[in-house]
Amino acid sequence: MEVIINSDARVASERAARVVARLVREKPDAVLGLATGSTPLMLYEELIRLHAQEGLDFSRVTSFNLDEYVGLDSDHKWSYNHFMWDKFFSRININPDNVNIPDGMVTDIPAYCDAYERQIAQSGGVDLQILGIGADGHIGFNEPTSSFASRTRIKTLTRRTVADNACFFDDDEAIVPRHCITMGIGTIMESRTILLLAFGENKADAIAATVEGPVAAMVPASILQHHADAKIILDESASARLQLAAYYRWVYEGKPEWQQDA
Ligand code: PGA
Repeated sequence: MEVIINSDARVASERAARVVARLVREKPDAVLGLATGSTPLMLYEELIRLHAQEGLDFSRVTSFNLDEYVGLDSDHKWSYNHFMWDKFFSRININPDNVNIPDGMVTDIPAYCDAYERQIAQSGGVDLQILGIGADGHIGFNEPTSSFASRTRIKTLTRRTVADNACFFDDDEAIVPRHCITMGIGTIMESRTILLLAFGENKADAIAATVEGPVAAMVPASILQHHADAKIILDESASARLQLAAYYRWVYEGKPEWQQDA
């Protein structure tokens, strides 16, 4: 794991955008795994800027989103499908045929999830996966005690996640869907590179447990300790409970320039 502590969320997001941009320039048909929520918004803004001002070309990129709420139509204003088009896809030149977001309205969910897994495999697998993290340590919607071997499937949100996500539903917990389709932890772990972003003090405990705690299903993101290329990109507040924060800064500052790919 590489822990990179930044002065604020914008600097962190620009750093993450540089990693994405470098991949897309080197591999124009890259497969990106994408996330929703408030955390990646500034990353998407920066990628939109790089597209508009520096010609970053997404025309051959394929994307797979992590998750979607069950029961929300893809054009529902609170669906993750709507979120992705509104915040990102409509403002870059991605080919809509290459965009994959779980469909929360399917009737045969297990068959649909198997097909989603097959599509990821047929695309060559995810080159770079963007992750946020829940205050409870979830990645995607893999809540605590999710199996590390899990694949794309239906999950039930915890009460805490329902409460945390109410801000996207007019602050009304009662209308937050209880179920979602999410890539599994096993699915996420097959990505070649992972960028996990976390900002704000309400993520500090989850980040400390993820980076420095034992690998445990109670903290799903802790499995990233077993990933060969996972970068944890933080702002100051999200790093506040890391025991070795000074060490991570020292490591980063001491990297030779050719290694500073983020
Ligand atoms: P957030 O959600 O980006 O809205 O904080 C992250 C997550 O739940 O994974």
